[in-house]
Amino acid sequence: MNVAIDLSSKELFARAQNVFPGGTPRAATFSNPPMPYVDFGEGPWLLTVDGDRLLDCSNNFTALIHGNAHPKINAAIQKQLAKGTAFSLPTQAEIELGEVICDRVDHFEAIRFSNSGTEAVLWAVKAARAITGRPKIAKCEGAYHGGYDFAEVSSSSRPENWGRADAPLSVATSYGTPQGVLENVVVLPFNDVAHSLALLEAHAGDLAGVMIDPMASRAGLIAATPEYLQMIRDFCNRSHVVMIYDEVLTFRLAKGGDSEAFGVRSDISALGKIIGGGMPVGAIAGKKDFMSIFDNGAAKPKLYHSGTYSANPVTMVAGKAALELLDDAAFAHLNRLGERVREGLRHVCRQRGIEHHVTGMSSLFRLHFGSAPPTDYRSSWEMIREASVLGDGFTQAMMQNGVHLLPIGTGALSTVMTDEDVDFLLDAAGRSIDMLT
Ligand SMILES: Cc1ncc(COP(=O)(O)O)c(C=O)c1O
Repeated sequence: MNVAIDLSSKELFARAQNVFPGGTPRAATFSNPPMPYVDFGEGPWLLTVDGDRLLDCSNNFTALIHGNAHPKINAAIQKQLAKGTAFSLPTQAEIELGEVICDRVDHFEAIRFSNSGTEAVLWAVKAARAITGRPKIAKCEGAYHGGYDFAEVSSSSRPENWGRADAPLSVATSYGTPQGVLENVVVLPFNDVAHSLALLEAHAGDLAGVMIDPMASRAGLIAATPEYLQMIRDFCNRSHVVMIYDEVLTFRLAKGGDSEAFGVRSDISALGKIIGGGMPVGAIAGKKDFMSIFDNGAAKPKLYHSGTYSANPVTMVAGKAALELLDDAAFAHLNRLGERVREGLRHVCRQRGIEHHVTGMSSLFRLHFGSAPPTDYRSSWEMIREASVLGDGFTQAMMQNGVHLLPIGTGALSTVMTDEDVDFLLDAAGRSIDMLT
């Protein structure tokens, strides 16, 4: 399919300046030079209005695990569209997606839906506060959890403001963040068991929840160690603090999500992205004891959660179709392709004598340039800067060579990709590095 488009990406970006601040409706699609505009997506490919074909290794920021315009997901959406898009009465579709998700994870005994990962994180934090009656949350430095005031603290701190490595400062991401927000977020050094535990113990009496993404993408796509997660688990049990996983991105790592991928269970988890089958979604799921805070049956609910579009049936049917397609065979395929990509990127760099490290697991990968292995947000941040020509230029160069990655070189595979697509990706990586060196 090739559709004639009137305006080029350059012309569209010029036109967008008149309607969006900075010419873009969301910060993550801003880049200099501007990103190409998509005409349509087809399986693993994106076709731009300029007539270029890009291998889609972003998949709308990891959300589209079956690639673009999957026929089975589209059919489910179209069937629902004919019946209506959203009602202020419940539907069977919400029960069905709820059951599909809870069936995959042992301790997901109840679920509530929202419309984005940001909202899911927000509700998980509010649930922790309502359950414990305490104000503070702890989170790891550099981890991105969306745009909620408390959750975004220290997600983009820098050497000039991040403070000591063993006790990171609570740094505002947005200008104007109230001091009270910063005072209520304890920032942990990722994978540093002793210092994180000391910080948690010091704030135990005020802590509602500890929130962790066990493989935070913007913080380096580095896996939390089993010891680190177990330390948090034990601390939360001892101190009656809610352990929250942010699985918005990492639910794609295994059929049972982070608990299966990392071997330690949360109390409640924030979900999003893949569970909506390409439609806007978020969810909070977990043990009944914790999720009962959302129960409206109580005379005066401790937490009122709703949302005009929460659990809308279009998202529900799309999510159900997507998760049904994401079976054991699909995970085996993603894991095998992911391993090929990670090993292949190492090979491409070794062949060229480029110092590098590749992180990620299953369908996620990230290429870091530099000599020291990235261990946390600070070391992966340093590495981007140190190897600035490669670090800054790689994502752009990959785009020029036909591969669309997330910013800072993270990539996400989809089930519709093949070995030929991996060959294409690795070839593009080699050509991109050659362009930059
Ligand atoms: C780990 C994590 N949490 C939360 C979010 C926010 O999700 P959304 O963009 O759907 O609001 C993201 C988005 O990238 C994420 O990666």
